[in-house]
Order: sequence, then structure tokens, then C-alpha cells
Amino acid sequence: GAALKLTGPWSLVNNCSSKGSTVSEKFVLPEHQRPTLKHDEYTDLEIPVIDVAAINNSLEGDATAKEALVAQVREACLNWGCFQIVNHDISEELLSRIQYHVNRFFNLPFAEKMKVVKQDGSVAGYGHATVKNGDVRPSSERFFFANDGSVAENAQKLWSNWDENDFIGSYSEYYEKVHQLSGSLIRIIVQGLEVDPVHFEKYWKNTSGLLLWNFYPACPEPQKAIGINAHTDFNLLTVLHENNVGGLQIEKDGEWVAVRPRPGALAVNIGDTLQVLTNAKYRSVPHRAVVNETQTRISVAYFHVPVQGIDIVPHPELVDEHNPNKYEPFTIDTYTKIKQAQTLNTLELFLRTD
Ligand code: SIN
Ligand code: FE2
Repeated sequence: GAALKLTGPWSLVNNCSSKGSTVSEKFVLPEHQRPTLKHDEYTDLEIPVIDVAAINNSLEGDATAKEALVAQVREACLNWGCFQIVNHDISEELLSRIQYHVNRFFNLPFAEKMKVVKQDGSVAGYGHATVKNGDVRPSSERFFFANDGSVAENAQKLWSNWDENDFIGSYSEYYEKVHQLSGSLIRIIVQGLEVDPVHFEKYWKNTSGLLLWNFYPACPEPQKAIGINAHTDFNLLTVLHENNVGGLQIEKDGEWVAVRPRPGALAVNIGDTLQVLTNAKYRSVPHRAVVNETQTRISVAYFHVPVQGIDIVPHPELVDEHNPNKYEPFTIDTYTKIKQAQTLNTLELFLRTD
């Protein structure tokens, strides 16, 4: 076959388990940046777990359950910026099929994965996290799926072998379900703001999303490395599926909190765009993923992305003399580009100074 070109930044795509019993230099964080909270160091302080069975109830017929759900979600958004959901309509059977495909892909030989490496200027493909941290590499691999055109076609274009064991079918089913679920969730989330929802509709009418696979292999010295650095998400909201290993940590009042994985549960977090739309009433939660010594962790993130080309501006009813508009307008197109090149605080660029 054709010789693979393994030069350029993507030649560094591998992970910290690839060499013996010590972690390779390029993954070693400066001491003051190392995570001190372990992947399974759970405490009583846990993110809310919310039963969303009532999510599609009509407000007339089953008003009480729906109102209770709106109130729970509101509290979680005000206090945490994230929560876990149970009793959603994505089956454990589908989740385990997705996990199968994620594991299969990342366990391919490096040269195979390089056949679908992300090209400059495109979102889709194999690579590693772009959250920058000097020259230190996060200890993870990822695969990003583009959202232009049909999901199945995109996947097929990337790699013709992906029909194996009905990858396309499982992928499309998961995408459709998590996209629907996110649409329902965001309506529940803004209902809790008790403002006219019309202002928001244009941001998510017929919108689409992005799927990202993350792979965090076991790391011989996990305390020296990081799976993905602390960051906030750029989008409206993110729905995350993970296997049962643990590693996701979120920031709460300046402290890191480990999120306990629950079989079948999905984690939901607010992104920067929703923070702006709510004039910072709901916060985009900083989060990171840590690695561990023995187990491979995988996660699948679905990013619900606002419609392109329209200015993201706070809801007028959430702006008053006590809560002035905090942000300069920007479109998601602009924001995504800047975010890719930045670290944690992209939103600060758009803080109003008047
Ligand atoms: C991410 O923030 O993109 C991934 C987080 C995780 O794997 O838990
Ligand atoms: Fe994230």
C-alpha cells in the first residue's frame, strides 16, 4: 500500500501507556498543574442525579411530574452547571454497542488510525485534544465526527471499513437519539428560567450536533499526567456517555469533584453559549478528565451546537440594571475558531468593558 506520511503534529498521536512503567516525557505536567484528586476519589459531594422520565410529558396531561423535573434541572443548572440523567430513552444495549465500536477503533494499529487522521482545516478525524497546555500533551486519543451532510455518509467517507458489525447503523441510531434528547433537555433547561422562550428558539431550531469519541488508556504514572485539561465546552450543552471507569471531574466552588459513573446514566453539562444566552445565570462548568493506572476509560460526547451565523446575545428578560449584559455579541462560527486556539477562558474575550 501507499506509504503513510507520519510527519507533522499528528505523528505524536499516541498515549502514555505506550512505553513501559514510566510515563513518557511529553505527557508529564509541571508539578503545580498535576491533578491531586484521583479518578475514583468520590465523596458525598456528588452532582445531581435526575430522573428524566417525564421529559416529553405534555404540560397539560402530566403537569406535576414535568414541573418537578423542570425545578430539579433548574437547581442543578444554578448550583452545578451539570447533572446526570437516568431513565432517558437511550438503552444500555445501544450504549454497549457504541462502546464496542469505540474500543474497536482505538485498539486498531496506529497506522490504521492514521488513515483517518484529522486534516488541517477540518473538524473530523483522529487526533488528540486541542486544549492547550504549553507543550504537554493530554494523555488521550480522540475521534471527531463532522456534522456536514448525513452522519452515515461522513463516517463512510472517513473510513470505508466502518460497516463492520453495523457501525453505521449503531452510530446513526445513537446520533439521532442523543440529538433528540438534547433538544428536549434544552427546552426543559430554559423553561426553568421563566422567560419568554421565543428569544431562544432561533438558536436551536433545526440545529445539529457533533459527536466525539475519547479514549484514555491506563497510564503508568497517572498522577503526573492528565487525560484532558480543564476546560469549558463551547456549545449549548453536552451529553456524555462514559464506561464504568471514572475520571470525569467538574469544578464546584473552586474545588474539583469526581463524577461517579453510573451504568446507563448520561452526564449533561452547560456550555459557554448557554452561559451567554442566560447572561451567566447558568454557568458553563469547567471540567477535566484524569487517567488511572489500570483501566482504559472511554467516553462519547455529543455537543449540541447553536445555529451558525446569528449573534449569541443574552435573553433581554435576563438583562436589567442589576444584571447588565455581560457580553459582546459573537457568532458560534467565530467562537469555535477562537476556542480551538485557546485554553480555559475564551469567553473573557467577549466580556463587555463598558
Ligand atoms: C470532554 O470534556 O471532551 C471529555 C470529558 C470526558 O471524557 O469525561
Ligand atoms: Fe468538555
